Amino acid sequence: MAMKWEEVKKLAGRYDKHNFLGEYLKWGERFRRALENTPSINLSYETLYVVGMVGSGIVGDILNNCLGMDRDIRVVKYTRLPKYIGEDDLVLAVSFSGNTIETLSSVEYALSRKVNVVGITTGGKLAILGKEKGFTVIKIEEALAPRAALPQLIATALKVVLEEDDVKNLAEIATSLSQEAAKYGLDRENNRAYKLAYLIWGRLPIFYADEGYSSILHRAKSSLNENAKVNAYYQGFPEGYHNEVEIFEEIIDPVALPIIFKDKEDDLEPLIRHLDDLDAEYLIIDLVGKNKIEKILRAIVLTDIASIYLAYIMKRDPFEINVINKLKRMRG
Ligand code: PA5
Repeated sequence: MAMKWEEVKKLAGRYDKHNFLGEYLKWGERFRRALENTPSINLSYETLYVVGMVGSGIVGDILNNCLGMDRDIRVVKYTRLPKYIGEDDLVLAVSFSGNTIETLSSVEYALSRKVNVVGITTGGKLAILGKEKGFTVIKIEEALAPRAALPQLIATALKVVLEEDDVKNLAEIATSLSQEAAKYGLDRENNRAYKLAYLIWGRLPIFYADEGYSSILHRAKSSLNENAKVNAYYQGFPEGYHNEVEIFEEIIDPVALPIIFKDKEDDLEPLIRHLDDLDAEYLIIDLVGKNKIEKILRAIVLTDIASIYLAYIMKRDPFEINVINKLKRMRG
């Protein structure tokens, strides 16, 4: 590694004023507490609409990846819900702040159509609306930022939508998250998350995975955007076999860095073989865990923390999101 670890620590001290990295060391406990504190609510519905944006919206993507083959789940990251939403459906509105305009607007629409709503938030207008209109709002534990609150957001959502027996199996994930995050702290010199950040530095990361792991792809892009303030893009497969692969006809763009999240049963081997034939540089991140949710969350811990190290390397504060906040103010 070209940078001395002492230097990385110095950059962390200088640019991570709020100790954003420290938030990740709390992920396991937060996940466990959210599971314990979320009440069991008996819900039946035809279609589950999970509404929310980015740091909160990722909950819908993860639920969809984990449960979408067994039940009808629609992820909505928009100001409106479809006209055909009905009284038998359920809207799970996820907003860390409770003040996100797109989420509130969808909730208002659902209420106007007499659709059952459950809110997950720390407070804000969503909590007030819940009190006024009489729908369930589950308050989650605070965090420095929405994206740092993923464990309490997802654990709460899982407790709401899963059967009791399935919820019991989630307890182990808390331990796994704590262990995963602990590998990437500043006390672990040249750890894997830092190495990943260093490799991404100055490149355009292009994330690939089976479409069933699209939440990892979207989160990796979002975290690099928000924490490190850099560009990234992604493509799910097998869709990518019908468009994306053509960019690898001959020599690949030297700036692009393919990063492949690999699961045992996916169909990414032909892509990898083709990249080998081209002698292209790429990285593989193996997805590890006993089940899909664990695989997703562990991959997110690694790439999120990598995005924080990249922020340090680039002399940026991973916590600050000045442009997002400015545009939120402009949009009201
Ligand atoms: O991570 C962030 O800060 C953002 O991506 C937010 O999650 C997003 O702007 C939506 O806000 P909220 O999560 O409060 O609904």
